[in-house]
Amino acid sequence: MKKIALVTGSSRGIGLAAAKLLSAAGCEVIYHASKESEKLRNAAGTSPFYGVDLNDASAVAAFAEKLISNGQIPDILVFNASYQSYTGIGNFSTDEYRKMFDTNVQSTGILLNMLLPEMQKKHWGRIIFVSSINGIKPASRLAVYGATKAAFQNLARTTAVECAPFNITVNTILPGVIETDRNAAVLSDENFAAQLKEKVPMHRFGSAGECGELIAFLASDKAGYITGAEIPIAGGLQL
Ligand SMILES: NC(=O)c1ccc[n+]([C@@H]2O[C@H](COP(=O)([O-])OP(=O)(O)OC[C@H]3O[C@@H](n4cnc5c(N)ncnc54)[C@H](OP(=O)(O)O)[C@@H]3O)[C@@H](O)[C@H]2O)c1
Repeated sequence: MKKIALVTGSSRGIGLAAAKLLSAAGCEVIYHASKESEKLRNAAGTSPFYGVDLNDASAVAAFAEKLISNGQIPDILVFNASYQSYTGIGNFSTDEYRKMFDTNVQSTGILLNMLLPEMQKKHWGRIIFVSSINGIKPASRLAVYGATKAAFQNLARTTAVECAPFNITVNTILPGVIETDRNAAVLSDENFAAQLKEKVPMHRFGSAGECGELIAFLASDKAGYITGAEIPIAGGLQL
């Protein structure tokens, strides 16, 4: 039987690359983005898709309920979507603070609460958290985003411990600078991009496809004895 893979934030970027690779590996992929946009429809093609704003707790709970009632219990769950805003310490508003925590952490907790009991019944599963180097290493104006990713990683560690007896592995990837829509504006400043590249030991940025390959590997049978790992995919930027 085909494995069901839910990839949050799969309309573009890392999530889309992972979704396409999981689909090529034979999974039935459920696509997801913040809303039912043309982009999401095109990404999904003939696959099922959901537009759900992860900043809205009741919409997230309704999403999980719908997946369960439709029999779309994920075997593979990729927590990829996140919200990021650049805000220096002392300048962030409580609304932005709340939005980053609700979207990046609270929604993950709600989905885990509701989907895990169903996933555990299957006795095989893969959960992949897409965090960031900023979860372990500070970056100017990303204090709150980094704090959400640190919390997200901690949630992953406990989930790994609790899921291990159910043959569900839980791993985290930590991308560095990856060329996606997310940082297209920042990287369009050639001087800034060149300086940033110098800080990466491999002197280049990563691609969504490289992150997708790591996610697909962690979701495969080959990775069955890896759990609780936190893997930087950052060209050495974590060092
Ligand atoms: N790119 C990097 O350099 C980098 C570095 C470190 C970590 N990461 C992490 O990698 C993951 C993917 O990043 P990316 O660069 O591929 O992102 P991206 O290109 O900005 O795409 C973000 C995806 O998340 C969805 N999303 C955003 N806000 C959402 C919300 N409130 N509710 C539901 N879905 C939402 C977007 O949906 P819509 O299309 O509807 O907006 C889109 O599908 C994120 O967790 C990010 O923190 C990225």
